[in-house]
Amino acid sequence: SQILSNSDLKKMVDTSDEWIEKRTGIKERRIASAEEATSDLGVKAALIAIERAGIDAKEIDLIICATLSPDHLCMPSTACVIAGKLGINDVMAFDISAACSGFVYMLSMAKAYIESGMKKNILLIGAEKISSVVDYTDRGTCILFGDGAGAAIIGATEDKNEAILDIHASADGRYGDLLITPGCGSKFPCSQETLDNKLNFIKMQGNDVYKIAVKTLTNDVIDILEKNNLESSQIDHFIPHQANFRIIEAVRAKLNFPIEKTVLTVAKYGNTSAASIPMAMNDAYEEGRIKRGDLMLLDTFGGGFTWASALVRFGGK
Ligand code: UT7
Repeated sequence: SQILSNSDLKKMVDTSDEWIEKRTGIKERRIASAEEATSDLGVKAALIAIERAGIDAKEIDLIICATLSPDHLCMPSTACVIAGKLGINDVMAFDISAACSGFVYMLSMAKAYIESGMKKNILLIGAEKISSVVDYTDRGTCILFGDGAGAAIIGATEDKNEAILDIHASADGRYGDLLITPGCGSKFPCSQETLDNKLNFIKMQGNDVYKIAVKTLTNDVIDILEKNNLESSQIDHFIPHQANFRIIEAVRAKLNFPIEKTVLTVAKYGNTSAASIPMAMNDAYEEGRIKRGDLMLLDTFGGGFTWASALVRFGGK
């Protein structure tokens, strides 16, 4: 509900509107109210997805939530909290932890569940109250992140115009320390000392992450296009993770995606981690840009490091 602008941040840390916009492309980000938790944002997105899919919430037989800012550290999962708030009381529900790659990671799980016939209507939610794990005295991170949620219903279909064609998801744990919330897990349990040292907040070596992000996001797209015998000109919508406009621009230019076919929301929402891709998809849908059968290329990268890309035909009604 609240908008945090670059001018607001200028009052909190040593930065400037010009620096933030030039280095990241971000103008503002949304911040949830103190009363709202990640699940509340997720529920709002889920209700819209259910309505647009034209199904009854009771038809949902699996709920997965991707988040790095869950309502509770250990349990219950945010997916269970969302299920309860939606009144779906007998359903398989769990969270996944893949940072910013969470939405595409869970899309690959949904594809497997649907194609195996194990599930019929799956609710995927990428939701973050990331402001709860951001240190607003650290100018290297606080300028980047924002809160938000996006959701999708993945259902069984025989129609090739609604297919999830291919997904590539991977990780390399060697880079874990470059983007990390070190504390309040089992390694450094929550204590006064952990909190005093701000280990409960996101720490990032931004420039190292930046370089690896550009390389990985680019290679990932090259791989998935080659594997599917597609040219970038055959993609209707390139929907990259919205972390930094300069990262998107480097990948876009290298792969020759026209700017008109690239979905950009980073200026108004900043980096919303697992919510970034479904929020971008939603904006493009609400602007009337995405039509049924359009070929979307999703491309994401995040802490872990994790990364993932997907070729998806939009099956929305
Ligand atoms: O979603 C998961 C993946 N995350 C990302 O993809 C984020 C990747 N990283 C980035 O987007 C960029 O690295 C940042 C936006 C975080 C930083 O931009 P950069 O161009 O890599 O800057 P830098 O870290 O190399 O810092 C350059 C200078 C430094 O000053 P000196 O040492 O040159 O005097 C920083 O101290 O900019 C300074 N700086 C700032 N100045 C004003 C760093 N942050 C700020 C700031 N305002 N907010």
